[in-house]
Amino acid sequence: MTTITLDNIEDGGFAEVEAEIDGDSESVILFREGGSVRAWLNICPHAGRRLDWAPGKFLKSREGHLVCAAHGASFELQRGDCVAGPCRGDSLRAVAVSVVDGKVNVG
Ligand code: FES
Repeated sequence: MTTITLDNIEDGGFAEVEAEIDGDSESVILFREGGSVRAWLNICPHAGRRLDWAPGKFLKSREGHLVCAAHGASFELQRGDCVAGPCRGDSLRAVAVSVVDGKVNVG
């Protein structure tokens, strides 16, 4: 399990961590909304690329969607569903995450 401090994620912003998922080390996207955090594998369902343009740097559209830096697929941030772009209808793969006493536990 990987743990980071909630305060290290800007409210409404993203962070990236490496976490062990099913025995493999994976890059994980974290999205913070107030006191809650959602997490997905940093693997775009379109072509399997990372979504960040530099490590831990993610694009957010004016509509509040996460935008893949590779070819511009847009994902809403409740469920990680692709709502526009080349993989519309697919989803990011959710990762288990919990927030306890200001600590974010991933994986
Ligand atoms: S890999 Fe993300 S849009 Fe193509």
